[in-house]
Amino acid sequence: MSKQEELYKKYIRPSLVQARDRKNPITYEEFHISAEDKLLGVNKTYFIYTFGCQGNVADSEIFEGILNAASFTLSNDPSLADIIILNTCAIRESAEDRVWGELGRLKKYKLSNPNLLLVLAGCMSQEEATITKVLKTYPHVDIILGTHNINKILDYIKNAYFNKERVVEVFSSSNSVISSLPKTRPSSFKAYINIMYGCDEFCTYCIVPYTRGKERSLLKESILEEINALIKQGCLEIVLLGQNVNAYGKDCYSNYSFGNLLEDIALTNIPRIRFTTSHPHDLDLLTIQIMSKYPNIMPHFHLPVQSGSSNILLKMNRHYTKEDYISKVKLLKQYIPTISITTDIIVGFSYETESDFEDTLSLVKEVEFEGAYTFMYSKREGTPAARFDNQVDASVSKERLLRLNELTNELTLKANKKYDGKIVEVLVEGKASKGNNILYGYSKNYKLVNFEGDESLIGKLVNVKINKIRTWFLLGELSNG
Ligand code: 5AD
Ligand code: SF4
Repeated sequence: MSKQEELYKKYIRPSLVQARDRKNPITYEEFHISAEDKLLGVNKTYFIYTFGCQGNVADSEIFEGILNAASFTLSNDPSLADIIILNTCAIRESAEDRVWGELGRLKKYKLSNPNLLLVLAGCMSQEEATITKVLKTYPHVDIILGTHNINKILDYIKNAYFNKERVVEVFSSSNSVISSLPKTRPSSFKAYINIMYGCDEFCTYCIVPYTRGKERSLLKESILEEINALIKQGCLEIVLLGQNVNAYGKDCYSNYSFGNLLEDIALTNIPRIRFTTSHPHDLDLLTIQIMSKYPNIMPHFHLPVQSGSSNILLKMNRHYTKEDYISKVKLLKQYIPTISITTDIIVGFSYETESDFEDTLSLVKEVEFEGAYTFMYSKREGTPAARFDNQVDASVSKERLLRLNELTNELTLKANKKYDGKIVEVLVEGKASKGNNILYGYSKNYKLVNFEGDESLIGKLVNVKINKIRTWFLLGELSNG
């Protein structure tokens, strides 16, 4: 057997079919780092490219946390780094194309620094097709790991360094929840907190239930412990993360749900709580009631609708109709009159007719979303929808996307106008651009606000009087009121 064949045998590759598996019971583990590993990265640097959603941003914070705990230093220049990690996204083909482009560009660093370790991580690693393509055409990738084993990054680095072998280890599924993972957060005042991993919804277009595995909630004690520690360090805003936060607790509690968790977190008195993402089917009355009861739960709800046609929603396996969605929105507006609602919409899903699309336009008009992320459907190999006939022509999808965007932009601008002349509370996140003193931050309703002020305000809650309205942001001036 050739050396290459021997290596191939050692590789642990993913299977999207096995990734459907939801049978194994959930286990809980603690992360530990050995005394020896704590010195692994002395005099070595790393750089991370993060693609995709907040889930990936949170995973990159864990990569950073583990590498920092092992004495590696974060570099701000990939051309000088000893390790480069690409934390990838597989949600749409365009997201994958960006990663392939970056991988190609990184080849030159490998030529100038043969000791560079190139690591492919994240959702794309969970796909068989990615592994096959990398093994065939990207020999400069040294380590491939998936979303279920980021805790093992130091083992893989040691293996690649000491055995000078390519490491491929991607588990198809995971039933474990690992706590005490070190995290390095870029901000002291705003933190992302995973409350659950995975997704069991299996929307027919979506690759996430395969790349991120079965729904697994973190135990409430460990979430609250993390939040209390952040509060002690001066954190002002937390964003709870999960693919479907409304399913929180279903896997581990019989009588404790997302609404209960929100209430316990609100009672810690952290000034601002946000969460993403929600599923209309699992959003319950308790969550809405708790939101209306506690002013530190921000009045913004991101509630992806995906389509306004009940026929298409059925084909998408979303478990609600257009009317169900509208009644949840009515409840939200009734209980929390100041709420702003944003959404995700896919156009051109298989079988979508002009009349289905018009149902989407009519739902958007009725709900008056304050913001919408809109996408053209992208076929994902391994998902049920990849086998649907009646794929919509790209030119038709493009035209629908333009029409939809025109409407959603109009509604965003209209919604923004209601803040004109109002004083809004902003958590200042940073400078809008170098060279001037324009700061930016988000209002309670998750509106991006720009205003003039001193850098010393970064990380503080301030009041801003809004005096100019744009579609993508609001402009204002500091106010004492
Ligand atoms: N094609 C286009 N958009 C998709 N999304 C998820 N899967 C696909 C796909 N295959 C969108 C959904 C989801 C958001 C994160 O990405 O709108 O809410
Ligand atoms: Fe994908 Fe649907 Fe799960 Fe969201 S709820 S991650 S769209 S399968």
